[in-house]
This record gives sequence, C-alpha cells and structure tokens, in this order.
Amino acid sequence: MKKKIIEMPCLNEARKREVKKDIPTSVFKMDDTLSKLGEGKYYLIITHGCQANQRDSESMAGLLEAMSYKPTEEKEKADVIIINTCAVRQNAEEKVLGEIGDLKKLKKNKPDMIIGIGGCMAQEEEAVKIIMEKYHQVDVVFGTHNIANLPKLIKDATESHQRIFEVFSKLGEIVEDVPATRFVNHKAWVNIMYGCDKFCTYCIVPYTRGTERSRSMEDILNEVTDLKNKGFKEICLLGQNVNAYGKDLKTDYGFGELLDRVAKVGIERVRFVTSHPWDFDETMIKAMKDNANIMPYLHLPLQSGSDHILHKMNRRYTAEQYRNLVDLIRKELPNYAITTDIIVGFPNESDEDFNDTLKMVDYCKYDNAFTFVYSKREGTPAAVMPDSIPQSLKEERLQILNKKIGEYANMNNQKFMDQVVEVLVDGKSKKNDKTYSGYTPENKLVNFTGENVAIGDIVKVKITSCMSFSLNGYML
Ligand code: SAH
Ligand code: SF4
Ligand code: F3S
Repeated sequence: MKKKIIEMPCLNEARKREVKKDIPTSVFKMDDTLSKLGEGKYYLIITHGCQANQRDSESMAGLLEAMSYKPTEEKEKADVIIINTCAVRQNAEEKVLGEIGDLKKLKKNKPDMIIGIGGCMAQEEEAVKIIMEKYHQVDVVFGTHNIANLPKLIKDATESHQRIFEVFSKLGEIVEDVPATRFVNHKAWVNIMYGCDKFCTYCIVPYTRGTERSRSMEDILNEVTDLKNKGFKEICLLGQNVNAYGKDLKTDYGFGELLDRVAKVGIERVRFVTSHPWDFDETMIKAMKDNANIMPYLHLPLQSGSDHILHKMNRRYTAEQYRNLVDLIRKELPNYAITTDIIVGFPNESDEDFNDTLKMVDYCKYDNAFTFVYSKREGTPAAVMPDSIPQSLKEERLQILNKKIGEYANMNNQKFMDQVVEVLVDGKSKKNDKTYSGYTPENKLVNFTGENVAIGDIVKVKITSCMSFSLNGYML
C-alpha cells in the first residue's frame, strides 16, 4: 500500500522547545462531512499505559462516536481498531508490536478495516520507522498531539486507501471541547495539564507528550461541575506533575489553589496524580487539610534513595529533601497513605546506591509502590550512560525491593483490621454476584460481600482480613 506521510515524529524536534511560553487554546469543532462516516460500523480501542492514555482513549472513543461508529469488544466485528500505546519501558512496546502482529490476519480477511496506532509509541521516531517498514497492516499512525484530528485521518485513510502518518513533534496547543465517551460513569479523569518539562534522564515522556501546558482554571472547574451534575462521585486530576500546574499560565495561583477550588465544587471524592516531590508546596498541604473530600492518598515518586543516582536521574531533590517532605506530610496529614514509584538498576547503580533505596523504603514505610527495572529508552540522556551492572543483578534487586514493599504494604493494611471503611463501589465479582469491589479513601482495594449494591454507591464495609494488596470485609 502507498504511504502518505503528513509528518513523522522527530526526537530532536521534540527536544528543542521553548518552555513556559504562551500556549494557544483552540476549541474543537467536528466537520459535518465526517459525522456519518461510521454509520453501521464498529470501533474498538485497546489502551496501554498510564491514566493520561486512559483519558485520551475516552477522547478517541468520543470522536469515533461523533462519526457514528459504535463500540464493540470483538476484534472481528470492528471496522476501526485503535491501539493507544505506551513507550515508557521496552516491554510495553514489545507487547504492542506483538498485538499489531496478531491483527495481520484479521486485516487480511477484512481489508477495509482501519488499524490505527496512537499514543506515546507513535511519537517515537524508531518505533514509527519499524511500524512503517514492517507492519503494513497499520493504516493510520497519529501522535499524542494529533488526537483531535483522528476523524479526518480515518476519513483520509478510508477514502484514499493510503497509509497516513501524522505525528507532530512540537505542537502542543490545548484543544478544548473534544467529545469524550467516559468508560465508567462514577469516576472520571480530568486533565489539568499536559506534557512534562522535567526531563528526568531515563524518561521518554517529555519527548512523547511535549511541553508542560496547563488548562485554564475556568475550563477545569466547568468540567468538574458538569461531572458532578451528571452524578460522578470521584474525579482524579491528571498531570505528569500536577504540582507544576499553572506555571506556564503566568497567573499568581498554582496547584494548591486549583485543588482547593476543585474540592469546593463539592464532588464526593477528589484525587490527583502525580505529584513530583520537587514542586510540592505548602498551599497544597493547606488545601488537603481544609477539604475533607480530598482523599487521604498521595503518590510521591521516589525513583531512588541514593543522592548520586538521583542526581544522575536529574530528579532535582536529594534523599534528605525527600525525607523532609515525607516528615512534613506525616506531621500535617497523619492519616494519609503514601505510595511511590521506584526504579532499580539505573546505569551503574552500585550495591550501596541500591541499599540507600532500601533504607528509604524503611524510612517511608510506603503503603505500596510501583517498582521497575530500568529500561533504556533511545534518545534519552541515560541511554548513553555507561552501565556495567548485569541484568540478572537488576532483576535480583527488584525481587529484594518487592519483598520489602510487600512487607510494609501488609503492615499498613493490618491497621484496617476490624475497622469500618467507606468504599466507592467499582463493580461486582465475575465469579460471585454477592461479592463486590471498590476503593477506600486511602486507595485500598476492598473485596466485600453485600446485597443490592450498585456501581457508584459509597458503602460502609467492616474489614475482616487484610492482605498486602487488598482488604476483605462485609457491607454493614
Ligand atoms: N510523571 C510521573 C511518572 C510517569 S512514568 C512522575 O514523575 O511521577 C511512571 C513511572 O515509570 C515513573 O515514575 C518511573 O518510575 C517509571 N519509569 C519511567 N521511565 C522509566 C524507564 N526508562 N525505565 C524504568 N522505569 C521507568
Ligand atoms: Fe518522566 Fe520525570 Fe516527567 Fe515523570 S517527571 S514524566 S519521570 S520526566
Ligand atoms: Fe506511557 Fe506515555 Fe503514559 S509513555 S506512561 S502512556 S505518558
């Protein structure tokens, strides 16, 4: 098939950018000629990666439905299949390439089917070259800055029978009012900012997601008010570094003020991810203390407990500064659960460095952690750092770390034994229709028995047993 390239991703372009510049905002408008294109047809979106991708998939679904496509769970039935990809680690990418490979046969049997690849892998030069050369079943590749243009790209691919690649590396304007189909009706992700300017040396996100840009407070508050009016019980404010909210807007308020205003809209539960330790400030703590509907849960990525590695990672804080922040949070917000992200096996991480990470885990006694073995990302500064640590040692460190994380998770969960907790119900067990699950304010997963419970209810549950990663109980 011929290829029509509109724009290919370029890491060098993504690197060159002016930060803290005025970012334009535009308002989405659907072209009328596109709105019937999907009549009688079906779409399926497969989502990988973080919450930013989950939320983007909701926009993709909204756009496809605005074109009259209907959702389906069956690949065979779908006329459009979109894979929303993640590039943060090598294994995430391998999984996607395997998935695209599996679609080859399907496409052969149904040549008019459109296969689209979006998300962070679509922003990567190397990945897109591989897709272009080896995966001819892919019709459309669109970047994270090109989502609002998806209807047009699908139309072009359908009508021209050409492969369309549209990935802007630099542009990062905010598009408001893109239609969205929320995948659940009781909890919603709310973007407050896009992109990341931190440039941690191991991380691909600043290249795949572009410059940090904040949505206006007014647009965010309108969205939250609308969600509340529609009956949503929980919102989660999203950004790679929510604490940096507003820095690009040249206003005198930041995340603390936004959090306070959002909480005061009065939705039952307010959460946010992710807080970078570096931009954490007192106004955020004040907002959390003042508003009981801000959930007592904080995700505070550590990455490493060694000053030397933190410096090489460009994390902009020392182990001591991180400990001081945890002390402050424990003092001011004693009921807060704290979780983290940790990378082991960063280039040339010594035994001593790794021990510093273990010591930090002992100090912080996290409720839980996402732990990863360092994965080399082409184009990032860490990719060219010398590394003589064998992969097997890195894997061994991960096991040691996970064991410790599990012990503290268990210890923290035991505090809930015999307690009554409030659970926002997410769903019913597939195996047993009297068993439900949901989360406590501290973000603890609870499985419980009960009757006549609906998704979105907030119910009281008595806890009868506590494991490392979940609690069990019965509804009162
Ligand atoms: N913006 C968020 C993180 C987004 S990526 C933050 O800074 O908190 C989620 C996590 O993936 C990171 O916190 C980090 O622990 C991990 N990660 C990112 N790049 C990685 C890499 N190259 N190898 C292994 N883990 C990585
Ligand atoms: Fe990646 Fe660091 Fe930005 Fe998080 S803060 S997205 S780890 S560059
Ligand atoms: Fe993955 Fe992109 Fe999110 S790389 S973690 S989907 S920002």
